[in-house]
Amino acid sequence: MATILDGLKVSKEIKNEIRIEVDKIVADRRRPPHLAAILVGNNGASQAYVRNKITDCKEVGFKSSLFTFSSTVSEAELLEKIEELNKSKDIDGFIVQLPLPKQIDQEKIIMAIDPRKDVDGFHPENFGKMALEMATFLPATPFGILALLERYQIDTKGKHCVIIGRSRIVGKPMSILMGRKDFPGNSTVTLTHSYTAHIEEFTKNADIVITALGDPNFLKGEMIKNGAVVIDVGITRVEDTSEKGYKLVGDVDFESCSEVASAITPVPGGVGPMTRAMLMKNTLLAYKTSVYND
Ligand code: GUN
Repeated sequence: MATILDGLKVSKEIKNEIRIEVDKIVADRRRPPHLAAILVGNNGASQAYVRNKITDCKEVGFKSSLFTFSSTVSEAELLEKIEELNKSKDIDGFIVQLPLPKQIDQEKIIMAIDPRKDVDGFHPENFGKMALEMATFLPATPFGILALLERYQIDTKGKHCVIIGRSRIVGKPMSILMGRKDFPGNSTVTLTHSYTAHIEEFTKNADIVITALGDPNFLKGEMIKNGAVVIDVGITRVEDTSEKGYKLVGDVDFESCSEVASAITPVPGGVGPMTRAMLMKNTLLAYKTSVYND
């Protein structure tokens, strides 16, 4: 039976460490870190993510602000808000929750964020720094996976890491980070995607599989090798008869994979809470490196 990589537990440890730092800041009569979020439209999953991020801010002692816009908002209006947040001396970092409605050019929005406040690590300047192994904000989900691998002391050096999905938020940055000269890292990386033929030929040869696909229960036990480490980034809402009307289902068929893997993340309670904790960590970093704080 595989070791469960308990993201909920580790995320609480990380948030506790942040809380201790924030308490010291406040005890020194300095203002706490401040994270802002821009939320557009009424996508249920996005609303839930942002709500959770605000709860996290409260838990670690940060100030938070939420700016909501209707799904018909213009690009100009959003750019104006971003400019305001860029200039604000009171806000250390902010995020624009993705996805955005079709009339908005996502790349234009991301490019408008001051890289020093880009706590999602999405701006090309920060992405480039990450790729070049320079100090910067790492995107929260990949950063959370690294933290989980680190805290469980999963050996990554010289291992074959297969990543499924090449999104700008998870797959692409993860493929770069697992190959960097560091721990966790130093892996030989294969980035697979929707055009990869015979994906099981790759997953069967992987020491570490990271799935970020959004295809419920896609990865079966017979697709991985004995002792593999399996990281499940997928969180798809699947309708059920519960009060909420849905449950969260990962990309990994937990039942069959946990019989074969040496370590595995659950859904929920794996990568999700780690992502949230790392956003807090990035916000604390933005606060510490802000030109407005001494
Ligand atoms: N949408 C899904 N994940 C994320 C994330 O980490 N940050 C933002 N801004 N939007 C997302």
